[in-house]
Amino acid sequence: MSDSIIFVSMNDNLVNEFFGIGIQNGKTPENLGVLWRSAQNLGASFIFTIGNRYAKQACDTHNAVKSMPYFHYESFEDFFNNLPKGARLVGVELTDKAEPLESFKHPRRCVYLLGAEDHGLSKEAIEKSHFLVKFSSQLSLNVSVAGSIVMYDRQLSKPRS
Ligand SMILES: C[S@@+](CC[C@H](N)C(=O)[O-])C[C@H]1O[C@@H](n2cnc3c(N)ncnc32)[C@H](O)[C@@H]1O
Repeated sequence: MSDSIIFVSMNDNLVNEFFGIGIQNGKTPENLGVLWRSAQNLGASFIFTIGNRYAKQACDTHNAVKSMPYFHYESFEDFFNNLPKGARLVGVELTDKAEPLESFKHPRRCVYLLGAEDHGLSKEAIEKSHFLVKFSSQLSLNVSVAGSIVMYDRQLSKPRS
């Protein structure tokens, strides 16, 4: 019999930070799949969708939903009322009010919300976000690419807020 120890990877619950990421009224399941894959690989603790526009089954069959909690909210209000206690809402949107990602101090505990492929974030989501963040691009990028850039930036060693 082998004496070797099998290490099972687990979340480090002694680190006092986490983040979730999701899309408001996402249009295509393909984009969700790409975003979930990035979320799984770039340290998200949970993923979510708001609204019923996408093919929910396609999302449910993606591998990432077996690895981390996936939440679905019927409306922005439902989502906002159920944010994890103490977590800040970070709206990701190319808008004048948003801070540049390069100098943004990601909150230790937060939820990143991306907008729909065609309409972007709703007015209500923009108004209720505790922070808004953007990165410079000539035109807006694909929503999953945008989410991946934000998550990549978060795992760089930058000060947190
Ligand atoms: C294709 S864009 C939406 C474009 C929409 N037609 C508009 O003009 O608002 C989809 C989502 O990707 C994100 N996004 C894309 N480019 C971005 C950027 N440069 N900075 C921040 N977010 C971006 C935002 O969450 C946005 O709502």
